[in-house]
Amino acid sequence: MNPSADRDRRIAELSEQLIEIEERLIPTGLHVLGRSPDSDKRADLLRMIASFDRPEHGVRALTNLIAEAAGIDSYEEVLQHGPNNEARELIDRITKETIEVFSASGADAAGEFLKSRANVEIEASRPSFELLADIGRHLDSNRELEALMKALRGEYIEPGPGADIVQNPLVLPTGRNTHAVNPYSVPSRAAFIRAKTAAEALLRRYRDEHGRYPQALAMVLWGLDNIKTQGEGVAQALWLLGVRPVRDALNRATDIEVIPLEELNRPRVDVVMTVSGIFRDLFTPTMTLLDKAVRAVAQLDEPFEMNYVRRNIQERIDSSAASFDDAVTRVFSNAPGNYGTNVNFMVMQSAWQNESALGDLFVTRKCFAYTRDSRGCTVEGREAPELMGEALARVKATYQNLDSFEVGITDVDHYFEYLGGISKAVESRAQSRPSIYLSDSLSPHTRIRSLEETVRLETRTKTLNPKWYEGMLKHGFRGVAEIENHVTNTFGWSATANAVDPWIYTEIGNTFLFDEQMFERLRELNPYSLESLAKRLLEAHERGYWNPDEEVLEKLRGIIERLHAIPTSL
Ligand code: BEZ
Ligand code: MG
Repeated sequence: MNPSADRDRRIAELSEQLIEIEERLIPTGLHVLGRSPDSDKRADLLRMIASFDRPEHGVRALTNLIAEAAGIDSYEEVLQHGPNNEARELIDRITKETIEVFSASGADAAGEFLKSRANVEIEASRPSFELLADIGRHLDSNRELEALMKALRGEYIEPGPGADIVQNPLVLPTGRNTHAVNPYSVPSRAAFIRAKTAAEALLRRYRDEHGRYPQALAMVLWGLDNIKTQGEGVAQALWLLGVRPVRDALNRATDIEVIPLEELNRPRVDVVMTVSGIFRDLFTPTMTLLDKAVRAVAQLDEPFEMNYVRRNIQERIDSSAASFDDAVTRVFSNAPGNYGTNVNFMVMQSAWQNESALGDLFVTRKCFAYTRDSRGCTVEGREAPELMGEALARVKATYQNLDSFEVGITDVDHYFEYLGGISKAVESRAQSRPSIYLSDSLSPHTRIRSLEETVRLETRTKTLNPKWYEGMLKHGFRGVAEIENHVTNTFGWSATANAVDPWIYTEIGNTFLFDEQMFERLRELNPYSLESLAKRLLEAHERGYWNPDEEVLEKLRGIIERLHAIPTSL
């Protein structure tokens, strides 16, 4: 490539990354019980909510209405043309201005504004603004404190659905008693349609990077995520296997139907599913459905090169005389009554010597098989580390669906304990590190990112972003603890997946420790979390994830000593 074309390509890539960072909805501070979002956050939320078609409410996305009035098929089509296009900038700007008018002057004014600015018919946008007006009213008043008092008095609290606010605004008003889903309704029809895009994008990304499809993939499924998305993760697993759910006379998804290879147009991918304890408790029929799907696919009379499930299982039976029922086991979770992987605790307490111990702990905790035996009887949680190990030994990629803009992979320790833990378990069992991916069903267009890209994105939009950390620091002591949590969770991605660029640790040091003013602010607010943060950076160095100059290390050691000398009565 000639130098100027190369330069242009790199500038286009950089610009795409900047837009990606800019368009993230960034939570600015912790939720305070009983407090409604401030006007900026409210406008951001409304804009995000208004960016999705909602056929269930007869409501169109404002972005699509604007695109169509301009003679374009849909906003999705505009997004296909890369980040640097004028049509997209214009649609985004008009959407933002419309929400500003809506917030200041209400639904009628917003409809008239959209008509004059983008020629969108008032009748076409009315349902969208009526829905936004409803949502706005609920955002302005919530019953969280009232509900808390009722709960403490043992009184009745009205139920409400559990979901992400952008995915399902009916979660409002908050302060209700969250109810889950009917497990038989999962995956919903809408989730199954959405999941196709993500599953295909995942396979496309892997193929672009490796020149072939992954012979097996390990997937993490969580309960709350599948409540929020009505089973998007479950539906992605079904797509990867190449089956669709079938509903019985009572409209329950209790069976599957094989999608013919001619329609699928690609091989069926083997999927090892590790489900959380919460998923196991909530979605027992769904686990049966997933097990049924793998069994059905394994028994299809199809060539090995188009059916990796069948090929892997046959290889396993041939090489170790395993029974079909053992070789086909793909759904794993904790022992009944147990939850979590404990990988997060092992990392947070620095209680490990070799990284492989983290993967081993994952398997110890999550190797309980949920399947059927040769007589067709249900097996609920049989300890089977060797079956899980054999299944993981063929895995080339690991994957988890992100479901909410509020909670990302460095906000909580659970992402690294699950996706990081399983990736480390694969690494030693398959003798090679898997490619690790996350999908982002948070924005109107589905994206697959590698773990490394996701860590960078979260670091830039949250941990190192003044908008994010200043929001946290408004919460004083707790805010510093949140910053420290982010650093530890980031470190968790080094420990389990070696997915953190060294510059991230350098910039964490520069931002929170080596800037004298910031250091003093944090020390005043919470010296204990600040000490943990400094120690975690030193641990990142000691474990080989970061190699700064000796001078930086000396400064770091000095800071730890200084902080440690603070009397605990402070
Ligand atoms: C779940 O929803 O299944 C889940 C939630 C938090 C941590 C781990 C799993
Ligand atoms: Mg989540």
